[in-house]
Amino acid sequence: MLRTHTCGELGRAQVGKEVTLCGWVDSYRDHGGGLFVDLRDRYGMTQVVFNPPDTPADIIDESKQLRAEYVIQVTGKVSERPAGMANPKLSTGEIELRVTKFKLLNKSLTPPVSPNANAQDMPNEELRLEHRYLDLRRPAMQRTLLLRDRIVKGMRDYFAEQGFIDVETPVLGRSTPEGARDYLVPSRVSQGSFYALPQSPQLYKQILMMAGYDRYVQVARCFRDEDLRADRQPEFTQLDLEMSFVEADDVIGVIDGLVKEIANDVLDLDVKLPLPRMTYDEAMERYGHDAPDLRYGLELVDCTDLAAKSDFRVFSSVAASGGRVRAINAKKGAEHYSRRGIDALTEYVAGFGAKGLAWFRVEADGTLTSMIAKNFSPELLKEFGARLKAEPGDLLLFVADEWKITCKALYALRTKIGAEMKLFDPRAMHFSWVVEFPMFDFDDEEKRWVAMHHPFTSPRDQDFAILDSNPGKARAKAYDLVINGSEAGGGTIRIHDPGVQQQVFSLLGIDEKSAEERFGFLLRALKYGAPPHGGIALGIDRWIMLFGGLDNIRDCIAFPKTQRASDLMTGAPGAVEPKQLKELGIKLNV
Ligand code: AMO
Ligand code: AMP
Repeated sequence: MLRTHTCGELGRAQVGKEVTLCGWVDSYRDHGGGLFVDLRDRYGMTQVVFNPPDTPADIIDESKQLRAEYVIQVTGKVSERPAGMANPKLSTGEIELRVTKFKLLNKSLTPPVSPNANAQDMPNEELRLEHRYLDLRRPAMQRTLLLRDRIVKGMRDYFAEQGFIDVETPVLGRSTPEGARDYLVPSRVSQGSFYALPQSPQLYKQILMMAGYDRYVQVARCFRDEDLRADRQPEFTQLDLEMSFVEADDVIGVIDGLVKEIANDVLDLDVKLPLPRMTYDEAMERYGHDAPDLRYGLELVDCTDLAAKSDFRVFSSVAASGGRVRAINAKKGAEHYSRRGIDALTEYVAGFGAKGLAWFRVEADGTLTSMIAKNFSPELLKEFGARLKAEPGDLLLFVADEWKITCKALYALRTKIGAEMKLFDPRAMHFSWVVEFPMFDFDDEEKRWVAMHHPFTSPRDQDFAILDSNPGKARAKAYDLVINGSEAGGGTIRIHDPGVQQQVFSLLGIDEKSAEERFGFLLRALKYGAPPHGGIALGIDRWIMLFGGLDNIRDCIAFPKTQRASDLMTGAPGAVEPKQLKELGIKLNV
């Protein structure tokens, strides 16, 4: 070893001892006679002093060439810092190392991204990603990757204790439909044929249940070529699991236990179990979203019946045409939002399809005022006030539209107001389940039913009968874990009856021939004694984001991709040699 200790472990206990440290020059201060260096490694920072009389004059001379990010090895005595010079913010703040021997291990160019622990400004993200080796030296990034390691290890330990076995599944395989575009890999041996990188190990884990493995778990890499957002990467990691002979409650129960353990270990939180659950229908009705942030109230309230009685054409016509008029009561919002503030909210909801935002302020005497108030009788306004539990100072905000748009616009509005009015502690954590999702969603563009989760999801027992007659009403044995308004995991009980699987494929417009082509192996396996089974996958990158209090998934991944799915450090994706294309039988047309 080139060192006896790390830069984070020395303290009073080692005073008087001779030690050797290695690390990076985080910062240096030249005091004429000598040099002070903050030496940094993954474990912390230690003050290293090049000063007479401990340090020989030639070493002091040599030390003057040190610059940020030079890598050095220093030997010397651990000494108590002079009176009044201790740094209580540093774990090693009571001591310093007085250098007697020194070796320059490597130099550094001036770093374009400063790993300096005290640097306040976040460097530009493109530079950070391009020079990721420097960026990853930053203590904040190191904390996140250590947190990731701790959470993943906690997960592995938890599932091992519960009798799950880790099985690896292929990365080169057939397409697994999870709703995104596949990443394809051309085959050289079978020219014109392609592997698809897995969007998830879904079908392999089901096959493992059919093979009798009973409890499977894997930290699995998934690939989805979809539009990227702050919480989405083209390549991400799932904690993926599957269980045999279980019902939804059993899978939920296993994850409840995991949440409790990780929250306790990482955040010292005491999470009460069982985690609260609500159905999809209730979530959409009360919040307009299937992964609502429950750290605050601000629920959506339906007022369609009252709207129908008004002379305000926007309201009455929407009510008459089968749409919905829904509202939120921004408590004490009348003061917070001026007229211009409300205009900004109106513009904001327009981005989510709302044609407008009707509003009332609640005055000191409880009356509702607004430029549209003249369209409502005083009695009707009272009814609106009562429905929305209006109190003086409140701001009532309405969107009238078809159901889907009221959901989208009002959930967005709720999120914006929740943040702007600081309705929750950003460090608070809320865990819950949303269950019984619809089996299918109608794709308005393609004019056909698509699977809400994936096509292997079982309907609830009572809904088998309406699968064909009323697919939109059928609800699934599906469950999503929601943390702070983010979908942190999702799973379902699967179909284990080949007939039902075929029926669901047909409903999704996958005819028998293409079902055979794409999923023939699954349909066959289902015919050889498939046990009832189900599972879930947790988005590990999102867990790190949520448990680490971060707002960008790229900060949770060592080597992430940009919005354009490229890796700025390596330059991937990149061109390949003409010879490689030829071997693959591929001609470019770009
Ligand atoms: P699903 O598609 O819901 O389910 O994915 C499970 C969880 O993975 C996370 N996730 C993502 N994280 C980062 N970037 C992405 N692009 C991304 N996409 C998904 C989310 C999500 O809840 N095979 C099923 C699971 C099952 O049924 O067992 C599946 O993949 O946190
Ligand atoms: P207008 O009749 O377009 O002048 O709109 C009067 C008020 O109703 C404005 O505050 C609009 O923002 C609001 N408004 C218009 N359309 C809708 C709608 N679909 N839902 C809610 N409010 C609306």
